Amino acid sequence: TPAMEPTSVPAAAEAPAVPARAALRRHYLMCRPDHFAVTYAINPWMDPVAGADAGRAVAQWEALRDAYTALGHEVSLIDPLPGLPDMVFAANGALVVGGRVYGARFTHAERAAEGPAYAAWLRSLGFTDVLEPAHTNEGEGDFLTLDHVILAGTGFRTDLAAHQEAQEFLGRPVVTLRLVDPRFYHLDTALFPLDGANVAYYPGAFSPGSRAVLERLFPHAIIAGEADAAVLGLNAVSDGRNVVVNAEAAGLIAELDRNGYRPVPVDLSELRKAGGGPKCCTLELRR
Ligand code: ARG
Repeated sequence: TPAMEPTSVPAAAEAPAVPARAALRRHYLMCRPDHFAVTYAINPWMDPVAGADAGRAVAQWEALRDAYTALGHEVSLIDPLPGLPDMVFAANGALVVGGRVYGARFTHAERAAEGPAYAAWLRSLGFTDVLEPAHTNEGEGDFLTLDHVILAGTGFRTDLAAHQEAQEFLGRPVVTLRLVDPRFYHLDTALFPLDGANVAYYPGAFSPGSRAVLERLFPHAIIAGEADAAVLGLNAVSDGRNVVVNAEAAGLIAELDRNGYRPVPVDLSELRKAGGGPKCCTLELRR
């Protein structure tokens, strides 16, 4: 589109200025999908008959990793283990806040071995304060960290008791949110932090009470519609300015742009066949 003539729009008619958004450098842990496959179904996105193409998944994952490094973030890698086709979804491996590691304890037997594997790897990276959890929880899949609060999902995977366990261990207030739509079985499929103080979410994924909680906590949230949620558009990763997001989420991308964020579209369509997007592939390590 051509540049706007300076005289064509009077100052009073201009849209209100959006604040300048500042990026913070992040440290992420990722797992190359060398053993990726869809061989079982533990969420409605997975179809073992249709399967998935591991080679294509690796290429898409490499583009995601490259997007992070191009934005200046640090990416560490954990070795993928054979027999754990969902291990690429590093977000589920733990919750790391203030240098403390709250370990994962998976809901389904198919992924159970990933919890100890991620905990051991994080120890080897120098994280010594690791809690082996008593309660079922799937790490950053269901725990999203903001400056003053950790939002925690329950209903499909993570137990309510784990919310209390995480709060006690991490010393951060944990706010429970109830998920009600099986397509959005992890909190990170329906909501993502835009920065330390605001979020974007799809209201339809939450119980009425949890929706009211979100409206009270985040009156300036970006509200996404069903079409963006249905392509896992809410499974996005923001550094406070740049938002790595599934390319198909056109409405959300336009809305981010309008709000002063810089969308970084990626294609993770092969990994979506297992029910995952950019955020699922990304565990943030907070020292
Ligand atoms: N197939 C995986 C599962 O159902 C996908 C996990 C996606 N991860 C996420 N953080 N939402 O457990």
